[in-house]
Amino acid sequence: MPSPLRLGIAGLGTVGVGVVRIVQRQAALLSARTGREIVISAVSARSKDKDRGVRLSEYAWEDDPVALAKRDDVDVFVEVMGGSDGAAKDATEAAIAAGKHVVSANKALLAMHGQALAEAAEAKGVAIRYEAAVAGGIPCIKALSEGLAGNEISRVMGVMNGTCNYILTRMQDAGLDYQTVFAECEELGYLEADPTLDVGGIDAGHKLALLVSLAFGTQVNYDALQIEGIEKITIEDIQQAADMGYRIKLLGVAQRSGRGVEARMSPCLVPAASPLGQLEGPMNMIVLEGDSVGQIVLRGAGAGEGPTASAVLGDICDLARGAMQPVFGVPAGDLAPSERAKSATPAAYYLRMELADKPGALAKIAAVLGDAGVSIDRMRQYGHDAATAPVLIVTHRAAQEALETAIAAMESTGVLASAPVALRIEDI
Ligand code: HSE
Repeated sequence: MPSPLRLGIAGLGTVGVGVVRIVQRQAALLSARTGREIVISAVSARSKDKDRGVRLSEYAWEDDPVALAKRDDVDVFVEVMGGSDGAAKDATEAAIAAGKHVVSANKALLAMHGQALAEAAEAKGVAIRYEAAVAGGIPCIKALSEGLAGNEISRVMGVMNGTCNYILTRMQDAGLDYQTVFAECEELGYLEADPTLDVGGIDAGHKLALLVSLAFGTQVNYDALQIEGIEKITIEDIQQAADMGYRIKLLGVAQRSGRGVEARMSPCLVPAASPLGQLEGPMNMIVLEGDSVGQIVLRGAGAGEGPTASAVLGDICDLARGAMQPVFGVPAGDLAPSERAKSATPAAYYLRMELADKPGALAKIAAVLGDAGVSIDRMRQYGHDAATAPVLIVTHRAAQEALETAIAAMESTGVLASAPVALRIEDI
């Protein structure tokens, strides 16, 4: 049997401990599947003495992840610390420079520095694998880079942040407002240390940036994405969208069009009966579309010890078998520069507004939409006691610029009681 594949694990939080557990519990299975023993040489974390409920005494300990990354008895540096800069970046760079393969769950690091890290790794002849960085246990990196390698990818979509999906579905199911469910998430431990990463769409945006590069052969560029979070979504939005047959999701959508590669992470409406519309709780879903395969849908847990460690082990097994491929599907030097698309593909929009309840108010809104070339598909006014009336409009497909013109013109009609909410409706 070839020599064992030796791991150095940096980070012993939920994911790191999960990796240790699988390596210990599944040693025979891993070795049978890869033809090599997979062993842990050394580990590193902030606190050596903390009880993590897992056996660590047989592994060497390093306080410094950079030292771990350089150890002679480490073949694969497993980075499960997190953070786009600092120790995670230093240690990953050190591992590459020392000729070690890297397996990373760190979406932020790769979204911000992926191009430079890929160039360094490929120059050194080592791999960076990151299945665990996108959608936890769902093997979407492998699906794109291997299973769908014979396809031209036209669109990648998905729910990539389980916390946001939990918040939105819980609001809908229990009729609770955003703040109440956000507080619930704090108690359940669902939120990142900086919750803006979740609810601001940033964590999901990091994941989408990696999928865009892999799907469309472009350099990773988080700044080319349009990012909007779920903080402004109200229970009224959710209930009224449901009334029109839709669900609101924090949805990542990336597609190639005549305008370039458009990529956005934002709250969108999707049909309630669609697979994305049916996704409940803290789950993830990735939808991939290729010219030959058509559409495929992958659903699973996007976070947590078992699912994320499962993805890390998938990458480790590939390395044990000797798999080597460019980090983002094609050699880093051949990836095209990535820029924000000039405009968005036309879409239907959902508009919610409060109008002054007086004669001609609705007519004025319909007129500004018509003047901007935006056609109304459906419209509903809800019962009310107050001096303002809640109105919902679903448009036909319209250019984003036309919609923005109409919304700007609405402001000067004098009939709006508050700024309208506009959300894209995605065709799926
Ligand atoms: N906080 C993320 C989520 C998991 O809720 O999906 C880590 O990316």
